[in-house]
Amino acid sequence: MTQDTSNTVNSWTIEKDDNNIAWLHFNAANVSANLLSQAAIRELDDILITFEKQPPQALVILSDKKDSFIFGADIKEFTALETRQQALDFLHNGHALMNRLAALPCPTVSMVHGACLGGGTELSLACDYIVASDDRKTKIGLPEIKLGIFPGYGGTARSIERCGPLAAMNAMLTGSALPARIAKKILLIDEMVPLRQLKSAAENYALTAPKRKKLPLLARLVNVAILRPLVASQMRRQVASKAKAEHYPAPYALIELWVKHGGNRKQMLEHEALTVAKLATSETAKNLVRVFFLQENLKSQGKQIDFNVEHVHVIGGGIMGGDIASWCAIQGYSVSVQDQDPARLAQTIKRAQYSFKKKFKRDRRAIRDANDRLLADHRGAGLHRADIVIEAIFEDVTVKRALYESIEPKMKPGAILATNTSSIKLEDLSSSLKNPGRLVGLHFFNPVALMPLVEIIRGNETDEKVVQQALAFGKNIGKLPLAVKSSPGFLVNRILMPYILEAVTMAGEGIPPEVIDKAATDYGMPMGPIELADTVGLDICKNVANILSGALNIPLPDNLKQLSDSKLGKKTGEGFYRYKNKKPIKNKSAGYPNADEVQHRLVLRLLNEAAACLREGIVDNQDLIDAGVIFGTGFAPFRGGPMEYIKSEGADKLCQTLDTLKSRFGERFTKDAGWAMIE
Ligand code: NAI
Repeated sequence: MTQDTSNTVNSWTIEKDDNNIAWLHFNAANVSANLLSQAAIRELDDILITFEKQPPQALVILSDKKDSFIFGADIKEFTALETRQQALDFLHNGHALMNRLAALPCPTVSMVHGACLGGGTELSLACDYIVASDDRKTKIGLPEIKLGIFPGYGGTARSIERCGPLAAMNAMLTGSALPARIAKKILLIDEMVPLRQLKSAAENYALTAPKRKKLPLLARLVNVAILRPLVASQMRRQVASKAKAEHYPAPYALIELWVKHGGNRKQMLEHEALTVAKLATSETAKNLVRVFFLQENLKSQGKQIDFNVEHVHVIGGGIMGGDIASWCAIQGYSVSVQDQDPARLAQTIKRAQYSFKKKFKRDRRAIRDANDRLLADHRGAGLHRADIVIEAIFEDVTVKRALYESIEPKMKPGAILATNTSSIKLEDLSSSLKNPGRLVGLHFFNPVALMPLVEIIRGNETDEKVVQQALAFGKNIGKLPLAVKSSPGFLVNRILMPYILEAVTMAGEGIPPEVIDKAATDYGMPMGPIELADTVGLDICKNVANILSGALNIPLPDNLKQLSDSKLGKKTGEGFYRYKNKKPIKNKSAGYPNADEVQHRLVLRLLNEAAACLREGIVDNQDLIDAGVIFGTGFAPFRGGPMEYIKSEGADKLCQTLDTLKSRFGERFTKDAGWAMIE
């Protein structure tokens, strides 16, 4: 092989082999991941212009990054797009490149190993063939919908041509990153081979340029103009069950694009750019991009320090400890889980089986490996070799303190002790330790497998190194770690509780739960507060509320004070709602004349508490409040978080509403001084 240095540019390198195949390597300088930035697009475009004039025998595009192909466009560049015209120019650059690549007179192959997302997939779709490694790291997808847009570099038309409308629209509407096996199944890629054979598979396609198989008849039929509206209405229904059009317009716009232009590639491409330009400059997209960066920010919190954990020991195999243990095993850690009750431990292991199957589906090897990593450990034999001990026993200060005293002498000298307590002050626990600096809070949310956030609680005595280690561990187990000051309710429960209590108060006033929940979901919450309280369990809600109401002077509603053991929520079949097959029975005709006020009462209690957390410095800055509330509660991502919402609505306007509510409903609506600190 010869390296053609005359054509060596910043990100792309051309290597010609004896067959005159041009191997086009992508290796963006000084970064760990390839992004299809505007600069990378320009460079590649220049290279393709030379290939148009002097085509090689074939062209293969590959990445020089370890275990990743192209992560997509550079999302930072999106934030600079202020006008629709700027967005359109941006997209047209991508279109021009993809069109040039698709029109090259020689066979073109995308050789994928590792993450191939967004713009990376669109680039691959513009090639004649896509071959991918069967490696677990290989994931192919079009996740743009998660940023409030949809593929804008020609990916809509080209994915539909390749996979047919059902599979392609599904991939775009869900934004899923597909393993190579699934990508092959839906015809998104042509070939899936072991990594060691990837290069020869690409070479084979480049040299033989086999004829592409036609799409199956059914897939072609669905694209016919008279059928598209029918299929689209089904798609709209599915989307509507997850996202409201007024909150998330992108999926609806994508369906519309396909219905109108699905039969005509030129028009589809033209309108793809127009629609994406409009969406990209919308508030929703800007806020979703913001959420993306908030997520990156949390991940980076865990990067300050290396914390190599060989073994995790979890004490308490109940709801939380059991799930934390199986989650850590899923993430590749060797884990022992200890419980005083052998019967409980047996249940823990049974539940772990379920989690492994859910996670790894039919991948038996992965399930077996996860099983091998998880050990039921009644007597605590794994304690002495653990680098991190996670305590998740009963929420009782005396029991926890006694446990700490007994385990500390057996722990490795440098090991950290992490408690999952949700309400006990860290200082009350750490004073039972000889080395109180090793205790940190690691507050997971229920259900562990689904909730992305983990609060890392910095007690007054916690060593800073231990906080950093806990943040690193949180990131390494695939969670979003957020450092939080040790104070009642930490960040998430504290902000959520006044909102839930306001809902409970309203239910006590006779406002139908359906109306209250709808006010919240209309605002953009994933689930209404009444249904949430029922799901968590009213006894648990009451416990947390009791602790917070004492510490933060939040009144407890009368209807929460007296609970009947048979009406504790979903788990007993009845709470505020009655449950059938674990689903609440809702009265669809329930109404209330002043639904706006219901929404204001809920949202303003939440915002006011968020302002109080800012004032008290519960987390380091305003953005972290937004991150914590979005990833810890599911708070309407398209609104960018409570702080961002306050900024976009205007603090003055919201405070006026708060004053009105105070005059109607009392002191709990008193404006917190923290509002003045919101920037
Ligand atoms: P749980 O009652 O389901 O499980 C506690 C387990 O600890 C039981 O299996 C018990 O046998 C075991 N245990 C108690 N004392 C022990 C000891 N000395 N040695 C070994 N095992 C012992 O409780 P859950 O709900 O899992 O809560 C555990 C911790 O997690 C608590 O601190 C709670 O505040 C916290 N938490 C709970 C959440 C929830 O939604 N349940 C959410 C976040 C935190």
